[in-house]
Amino acid sequence: MQKNIAVIHGDGIGKEIIEQACRILDKVATIYNHKFIFNEVLAGGCAIDKYGECLPNDTLESCKKSDSVLLGAVGGPKWDNEPSNNRPEAALLRLRKELGLFANIRPATLLQELRNASPLKDCILDKGIDFVIVRELIGGVYFGEHKLENINGERVATDGMTYSASQIESIARVAFNIAQNRKKKIVCVDKANVLSSSRLWREVVESISKEYSDIELSFMYVDNAAMQICREPSQFDVILTENMFGDILSDEASVITGTIGVIPSASLSDSKELANNFGMYEPIHGSAPDIAGQNKANPIGAILSVAMMLDISFNLKTESRAIIQAVQKTLQDGYRTGDMMSPDMKLVLCSEMGDRIYNNLQ
Ligand code: IPM
Ligand code: MG
Repeated sequence: MQKNIAVIHGDGIGKEIIEQACRILDKVATIYNHKFIFNEVLAGGCAIDKYGECLPNDTLESCKKSDSVLLGAVGGPKWDNEPSNNRPEAALLRLRKELGLFANIRPATLLQELRNASPLKDCILDKGIDFVIVRELIGGVYFGEHKLENINGERVATDGMTYSASQIESIARVAFNIAQNRKKKIVCVDKANVLSSSRLWREVVESISKEYSDIELSFMYVDNAAMQICREPSQFDVILTENMFGDILSDEASVITGTIGVIPSASLSDSKELANNFGMYEPIHGSAPDIAGQNKANPIGAILSVAMMLDISFNLKTESRAIIQAVQKTLQDGYRTGDMMSPDMKLVLCSEMGDRIYNNLQ
C-alpha cells in the first residue's frame, strides 16, 4: 500500500515526538511492505515565524491532497500576543474546519503497566478504565460568533455556542457506530438544565437512538460527568459530547489513565465509515514549551496516533496492533519518560523511548 501523509511537527515538543512516530511508520513500511510518503508542512507558531501566518495556504492544500495528516502540537508563549485569528491555535482550528474534521475520537484506556502513574486509588482502578470520548470538533463555542464591543463605555465580550440539528446528528452517528463495536453504551454529556444548544442535542441524539435499538443511551450533565470520570470511570463506554465539553473532559480522562502523554486522537470527516476515512491524527497533549527541545517528551501519544491512523484511515489492523504491542512491551520492560515515571521504573528520554518501541516492533 502506498499513502501520502502530510506531517505537521508544529511547535514545542511537536518535532521530537513526531520524529519518533515517523520512524515507527518507516519500520511498519519496511516490515509489511508499504510505502508511506511524508510531506512535511508548517503550521502554528513556526509558520508565523517563517511566513507571518499561522496556516499558510500551501499547508492546507497539502493536507487536502494527502491521505491523512499527522500533527504534533501547536502553540507556545512566544505567540501569545498574536491577534486571535493568527495565533498558533487558530491554525489548528482552521485545519479542522477546512478539512471537515467534525468527529474527534479520544480513547481513555488504562494500561495496567501505567496504574502507578494514575492519581486514582486502586479500588477505582481495579474496575478498569476503558472508554472513548467522541467530541464534536467544528461547532459550538469554538466556532460561534466571537465579538468584543464597547457598550455604554464598557468592553463586552461574547462567544456564541451554536449547533444545528444536522451537526449534532452527524457526530451522534459516529458515536452510535463506535458504540456498536464496544459495550453498546453511550452517555451524552451536556448542560441541558441551562443551555438551549444542549436541549437540541438531547432531542436530536434521542431521535437518532431509535435507529440503534441495541445501544443503551443516557444523558448526564457535564458537571456531574466531570465528577463521575474520576469517581467511577468504569461506568463509561462511549461519551458523546460537544466541542468544549469534550476538550475539558478529555484532559481529565487522560490523566486518570496515568498521563496525558500516551493518549492519541483521530479527527475524522465521515460519519458512515470508520475505515478508509480521511483523518488527522495527533496526541492530545499540547506543545509543552517548558520541556521543548530537551528530549524529555513522551512520544507514545504520537506513536499511538499513527497506530490509530493505520487502523482507521488505512484499514491496516495488523500493523496497528503491532505498534500497540510494541508500546506495551516497552512499558512492561519498565521504561518510562518523566511524565509517567514511578518508583522502580527506568527513566528514559524521548528518543530512547522511541528506540525501544522501534526495536520491539515486529
Ligand atoms: C485540544 C487542544 C485544542 C482545543 C487547542 C490547542 C486549541 O486543547 O486539541 O484539545 O482546544 O481543541
Ligand atoms: Mg484540549
